[in-house]
Amino acid sequence: MTGFIYIVAAVCFIMALRGLSHPKSARQGLYIGMAGMAAAIFATMLGEQVESYILPVIAIAIGGSAGAFIAKKVDMTQLPQLMAAFHSLVGLAAVFVALGAFINPSAFGISSGGEIAWTSLLEMALGTAIGAVTFTGSVIAFGKLQGLISGKPVVFKGQHALNAGMGVALVLLTALFCATGSGFILFLIIMLGFTLGVTMIIPIGGADMPVIVSMLNSYSGWAAAGIGFTLANTLLIIVGALVGASGAILSYIMCKGMNRSFLNVILGGFGAESGEGGAAAAGADEDRPVKIGSAEDAAYIMKSASSVIIVPGYGMAVAQAQHVLREMADVLKAEGVNVRYAIHPVAGRMPGHMNVLLAEANVPYEEVLELEDINRDFAQTDVTFVIGANDITNPAAKTDPTSPIYGMPVLDVEKSGTVLFVKRSLGTGYAGVSNPLFYNDNTMMLLDDAKKMCESIVKALEED
Ligand code: TAP
Repeated sequence: MTGFIYIVAAVCFIMALRGLSHPKSARQGLYIGMAGMAAAIFATMLGEQVESYILPVIAIAIGGSAGAFIAKKVDMTQLPQLMAAFHSLVGLAAVFVALGAFINPSAFGISSGGEIAWTSLLEMALGTAIGAVTFTGSVIAFGKLQGLISGKPVVFKGQHALNAGMGVALVLLTALFCATGSGFILFLIIMLGFTLGVTMIIPIGGADMPVIVSMLNSYSGWAAAGIGFTLANTLLIIVGALVGASGAILSYIMCKGMNRSFLNVILGGFGAESGEGGAAAAGADEDRPVKIGSAEDAAYIMKSASSVIIVPGYGMAVAQAQHVLREMADVLKAEGVNVRYAIHPVAGRMPGHMNVLLAEANVPYEEVLELEDINRDFAQTDVTFVIGANDITNPAAKTDPTSPIYGMPVLDVEKSGTVLFVKRSLGTGYAGVSNPLFYNDNTMMLLDDAKKMCESIVKALEED
């Protein structure tokens, strides 16, 4: 019975991932995933190893309430650090389960005549090592994203050699553990894993943390799969592999969207402090003339246009401007303006970040187009309204081989008749590089908080 329910749960998890691949089906995907998890917990409770329901029920009540409370409280922009915090717990759980199995192998059915088979020791060591790296790595990622520790890359001489040395030492200790089954060696594996998690993540700037969180997500999946083998729990193996593979694919997609290799991210040192709000960085361009406009100017220009493309970015998420932005689009559409949205694959701080926010504001899906589907249309568009986006429009990615974002695909917003930029300053974005578009003749800067500016534009449009 348990095996059958586990298969049903596994199918639910696969369907949940499929549902999550599009905003339209995401909600349904989440419900299916929740049903799968409920089935998995139910089946586990049926297992003969469960002697009492009291402890599991208390644990579920505490964990479930904490999860519900946090989910209600957290902002969309805080999701990366929330993920990091959750992954740290998955890593720690993997370490504890492996320790439990080592201390009491008969309870886990992995000892024959008091001896633990080397294959079980190997699974235990892998789960422990990956879990320990995931735990401290995720804690550091959380600290950087939450601003508890500096987001700056912490680099020192010989860092990569040290990390490589610790990686090799972990492999050797794992082999030694399989041969001896020594508790002291398991302890060394845990300590080395904890240390490697810290030294691996500290050189990576706050700017690259979303990729790292996704990578740690993948690690936590593999750690869970490793422990699934130790516990002979097929569902844990399947779910661990799903999480491991999807996290790895997500990291790959993010790296591709930024045109950077995964190794380049891992080796660290990229970007300044988280970047956003970087008023410090207008740099050499500060003296160049800039056209600064008002909400009334923007309202007039857009109302007179026949086509407008809206380019949302991280600042829209920070300002939570999506609802009033949709209102603005509604007023323009009522005036006969053709309004569409252009989504860059790495706009914001998470894959799909903009799609989720626009869906939350009930923007029709058919108006939301991906970079490859809309980039050619900028040249035939009257006005581009860039709201809280910066790097994803920066033409330096096409023209300046020395730029850290060189090679990243960008939206060709400068090809449209007029470009309106809504942001608070001439500062930089995530990558810490200044954007020459702010100084173009066909650009008008609308310097304000994104939500406030949209509210003023809606007011001006309605008064007109
Ligand atoms: P950014 O380049 O980070 O620019 C965001 C801009 O928003 C900033 O320049 C900031 O300028 C402005 N801003 C911040 N708060 C605002 C507010 N309340 N109102 C108005 N404007 C505000 O964002 P982007 O264009 O979306 O590009 C995303 C970047 O993140 C890319 O470099 C990408 O590589 C990186 N990244 C993305 C992901 C994923 S998967 N999405 C993952 C890792 C890295 P002011 O301070 O002047 O207002």
